[in-house]
Amino acid sequence: TRPVRVTLYEVGPRDGLQSEAVTVPTPVKIDLINRLSRSGLTHIETASFVAPKWVPQMADAEEVMAGIARDKRVTYSALTPNLTGYGRAVSVGVDRVAIFASASESFSHKNINASIADSLIRFAPVLTAAKTDHVPVRAYVSCAIACPYEGRIAPEAVLNVAQQLIDMGCYEVALSDTTGAGTPADMARLLDHVLPHIPADRLAVHVHDTYGQALANILTALDYGIATFDSSVGGLGGCPYAPGASGNVATEDLLYMLNGLGIESGVDLEAIIETAWFISDALGRPPRSKLALATGR
Ligand code: HMG
Ligand code: MG
Repeated sequence: TRPVRVTLYEVGPRDGLQSEAVTVPTPVKIDLINRLSRSGLTHIETASFVAPKWVPQMADAEEVMAGIARDKRVTYSALTPNLTGYGRAVSVGVDRVAIFASASESFSHKNINASIADSLIRFAPVLTAAKTDHVPVRAYVSCAIACPYEGRIAPEAVLNVAQQLIDMGCYEVALSDTTGAGTPADMARLLDHVLPHIPADRLAVHVHDTYGQALANILTALDYGIATFDSSVGGLGGCPYAPGASGNVATEDLLYMLNGLGIESGVDLEAIIETAWFISDALGRPPRSKLALATGR
């Protein structure tokens, strides 16, 4: 059954900006996060503490985290691929960290330069340190439906990685349609496979809207009882190591649907639309969301 209340996990400052070719000035990133903090969002992924050689856009992660006006109601998280990243993240006081694995071997190699098995070995010390520090760890499973290099991925492979991440101590696994190729049939097949083993309250759904399927996939996941959804203000986003993949589902488009369904999120739609225009103006192009375009400024 559909939840009456959901959590939106805003990934705009991270997934949204990570593949922008032009360096976004640090003050713009800080302003973006501060605006999002005032919108009623409770979860914001602010940055990635990854190797700057791999993702130059995220090289200022410390400055961004240190520069924001932290709101007590908001949980600020960041990606940490290894212990180095974890150390950087906690040094600037992130509330939660996120590790990221893949259900596809090819994507795992391209994105984090390791096999799936080796990546889990690399994440283990992050989980150990986080446990000591009482820092909750989220996990992503990329290519939960398809891989940019291998095509369709079997739900068995997704469950296998997701289960290992839960067993390692992650509080939540975000099943991620990295390429946005999934349809509601794929989402249903995936959840049919995963939910008997991992309960809905330990899962999130992270969809990209490359093929216009994002809202349909989220509606499907809602009917399976999933209650945490990742989205990106203005529909920004894409992974630098997933060629052709476009933005995450736009936070404002998702909110409009949730409001229509009477599902509470606590997020102010107007504030998100204004923020979508703010960041789009800063990037010098119109927002990608239907809603920002339909309603104007
Ligand atoms: P590597 O080259 O195998 O690692 O990369 P390494 O340990 O050999 O390190 C290479 C250099 O990076 C060294 O510096 C390290 O010190 C440095 P050098 O000696 O050459 O000067 N280094 C670091 N510096 C700062 N912070 C760190 C760090 N780690 C190493 N944390 C590595 C392996 C995992 C580091 C690399 O592949 C990486 O950073 N990958 C991240 C790629 C990425 O951020 N992708 C996008 C995010 S995932 C995504 O978007 C999908 C998601 O949205 C879900 C979905 O939609 O599917 C989450
Ligand atoms: Mg993503």
